[in-house]
Amino acid sequence: MESPLGLCIGEPTNREVEFVSSKRVQLGDYVEVDFEGERVLAFVKEVRRVSRALSTDLEPEELEKLRRLTGSSSFFRGKLSVLGNPERRMELPRTPPEPGAYIYPARTETLQRVFGRDDGTKIHIGHLLTRPDVNVYLDIDSIVSRHLAILAITGGGKSNTASVILQELLEKGGTVLVFDMHGEYVNFDLKVNGAPVVNSIRLTLNPLRLSYGEFRLFANVDDSAYIQDRYLRKAFKEVIEEHLKGEVEAGEFWGALLAKLKSWAEDENYKEDRKSITGVINKVEDMIEVYSELFDLYQSPIVEQIEFGRLNVIDLSHVDERIADIVVSHVLRGVLEARKRSVRGEEGGLRFPLLTVLEEAHILASSTVNTKSRYWISRIAREGRKFGLGLCLITQRPKALDSNALSQANNMIILRLVEPGDQRHVQQASESLSSDLVEQLPSLNVGEALVMGKMIPIPALVKVKIATAKRGGNDISAVKEWKKLMEEREKLSSEYEDFLSFGD
Ligand SMILES: Nc1ncnc2c1ncn2[C@@H]1O[C@H](COP(=O)(O)OP(=O)(O)OP(=O)(O)O)[C@@H](O)[C@H]1O
Ligand SMILES: [Mg+2]
Repeated sequence: MESPLGLCIGEPTNREVEFVSSKRVQLGDYVEVDFEGERVLAFVKEVRRVSRALSTDLEPEELEKLRRLTGSSSFFRGKLSVLGNPERRMELPRTPPEPGAYIYPARTETLQRVFGRDDGTKIHIGHLLTRPDVNVYLDIDSIVSRHLAILAITGGGKSNTASVILQELLEKGGTVLVFDMHGEYVNFDLKVNGAPVVNSIRLTLNPLRLSYGEFRLFANVDDSAYIQDRYLRKAFKEVIEEHLKGEVEAGEFWGALLAKLKSWAEDENYKEDRKSITGVINKVEDMIEVYSELFDLYQSPIVEQIEFGRLNVIDLSHVDERIADIVVSHVLRGVLEARKRSVRGEEGGLRFPLLTVLEEAHILASSTVNTKSRYWISRIAREGRKFGLGLCLITQRPKALDSNALSQANNMIILRLVEPGDQRHVQQASESLSSDLVEQLPSLNVGEALVMGKMIPIPALVKVKIATAKRGGNDISAVKEWKKLMEEREKLSSEYEDFLSFGD
């Protein structure tokens, strides 16, 4: 018969139980509580070490039971969050346990059963922080349909966590689209079925496929400059229409656009607006020059370049945030529309579900700045589920992340997070995050995470494994780099001396 760890005290409920224990109890560990003959799993959410002499509020029977369990003068006292009965699909018991009921260490086999195994639908993310022998698996379907937020301070291990998830997802035949803000994923070193997995999508936009709203941003025409806006809109729409009718070739787009504007500038009927029209012409000419490398009139839609079973990467490290915003919004709009078409059985859609990954999500899904991508990010956050379109939002500034998008992320991996403002923001967005759990976040080490949501049966503190697929953007060791250069130099100078002493 296994020996109990401690016992329930006070006034337990079916959700929360206070306990005392004679043996070492770790925060975030799991125990089993005796609920009238049934073993129910519970999570240690609070624990202190207390002295026997000071525990005057315990009942005499409780103290007596505790004395029988331990002879030491101090013991552990804390709170458990009741998770449910593993034999009954984690159903919560209806009645509270009896005060004085024993608690036991959770059995490894029970935890292994709860946290799953690789059955082809799951991702192995790491192991329980307190139990290295219990592997933790995440459900892939839940990630894609209910989205995922990965949050931590800088260097907390976000990108590594994302890499672990992407690697396993790709090895299982998944398709991913990454908006690569720092050029970290273009070199993702992974082969699937013997072939490199990265499909690097060339960052060019076809002006003919932009919405007017997107096009206007490149031209730097503000919507407060309403006369300029009116003429640019009219010219753009007319040329696109003529193009669709086959009257204007793709290659003639700029010429046709400028010709139209110039004809209006000379038109007596528009005499009063002449200055504004000339202003628009200048702006369009600037736009053609500044973005000559970004624009490609023959480019097929980015959505058509997304390949099945690959890590599709759009490298945004060379463009500024304004352009990144237009690109991301343009692509997200495209994939959402394409998935909708496919689900409805129409031609030309995107035939496979897709997980989109956005690093630095607080810039494009900002809580304060009204970016164009924010709109499409929230649309996908809300509707993506029905179309097999998942979002993975990664940020080191959760506070600055749009709370709409964050609250739609039903799954969260929160690594070390120290700023109270960040913690509050995350807690507000997620009902299941208790303040006790939030209090753990500053004390996590790199790679240690609180994992919760639909993708995992019960919340857990996890040690995330190190991704084997290397990507760029890891911390640079200055000492190592210096040493390397120093050695190269020494080698050179010794070769030089050898050369000088040659023939001595
Ligand atoms: N699970 C882990 N176990 C051990 N070390 C880790 C783990 N995750 C990350 N690290 C270490 O921490 C460093 C930073 O990790 P990572 O790049 O994933 O952090 P990040 O949160 O993405 O940082 P940034 O905010 O700069 O993007 C890595 O170079 C690695 O050495
Ligand atoms: Mg990172």
